[in-house]
Amino acid sequence: MTTSPLAELSTHVTDLIARIDRAATLADLHADEPFIVGKRSILSTLQKSLGALAPEERKSAGAQLQEARRGVEEAYHVRRTFLEEATRTQALEADRLDLGDVVVAKVSVPLAVGHPGIVAATQRQLEDVFVAMGFTVSDGPEVESDWYNFEALNIPPAHPARGMWDTFYVDLGEPETVVLRTHTSPTQVHLMEKAVAADSLPIHSVMPGRCYRRDTPDARHLAAFHQIEGLVVDRGISFADLAGVIETFTHSYFGPDISSRLRPAFFPFTEPSAEFEITCTICRGEGCRTCSQTGWIELGGCGMLDPAVLEAVGIDGDEWSGFAFGFGIDRCAQMRHQIADMRALIDNDVRFLRQFS
Ligand code: DAH
Repeated sequence: MTTSPLAELSTHVTDLIARIDRAATLADLHADEPFIVGKRSILSTLQKSLGALAPEERKSAGAQLQEARRGVEEAYHVRRTFLEEATRTQALEADRLDLGDVVVAKVSVPLAVGHPGIVAATQRQLEDVFVAMGFTVSDGPEVESDWYNFEALNIPPAHPARGMWDTFYVDLGEPETVVLRTHTSPTQVHLMEKAVAADSLPIHSVMPGRCYRRDTPDARHLAAFHQIEGLVVDRGISFADLAGVIETFTHSYFGPDISSRLRPAFFPFTEPSAEFEITCTICRGEGCRTCSQTGWIELGGCGMLDPAVLEAVGIDGDEWSGFAFGFGIDRCAQMRHQIADMRALIDNDVRFLRQFS
């Protein structure tokens, strides 16, 4: 009697399963696949040898072989699932953000901390310059009555000069009697009233703060912006004092190669009035697009206190005289840091803001 080709079948199955379990990685398992369940497997060889058996023997041997193959394939499948899972876990492990490391980094690398915005920083620098020149720093309200924002500044109701300021009105009291201040000049009025009440003249003060105008924002304007106002009320003050303060400020803040000049202008609250300009910081006076080829950039307005303003707050214009000035803090920041578009100041883009830490 010939030995059945399947005599060693269970040993072969045990060997195959052992081989499957030895595959340490998916790649190893794939490489072994032809030898385990594929064409080069002992199972396929045995399958072919069944052809030599008698038909009745062949049937039961075929069923036996089929059974063995199913077992091996099952073991192969289980191993493959296990190795796939292990591969995924490994990948996740490699990708994992190690919180332990982050904590270490926090200790050893200084974390980025915030810093004052460019406008706030500019305001502080401007205050420092004026404090060094003997000025105090004062504050005023952002919501004003018509009286402080306009009337006391010699701009009566319906006066055409009101057109200089596109005003936001607050819906409070009689229509158009409460405004978001359009400039810092009303703070002058508060200061003068207080000084009269306290009998504490003279005044040498600057007043920084936020102002509002119904302007469409563009490269050089924002609807909410910042000004700094200056006020001197003293005895024997002349236009030369005003020009001297403006020039000293310009050199201190912008540097010795930037100068100032005054050009005749009109403001209802000063007489005479002037616009003050500084050397264009972009071209240093050569002439460029920003300064329309003039070499000069307008920064603000100024002038000698109008007698009508002194009278409105009850100051004796025969004894006291003074000057005032006002200019944009945002504009100063723009000029000093050469910021092409002022809207960058309110975009809150950290890539921009970080440059001014
Ligand atoms: N308040 C003016 C403005 O916003 C600027 C100004 C001009 C302020 C002349 C002054 C001044 O104190 O004397 O347009």
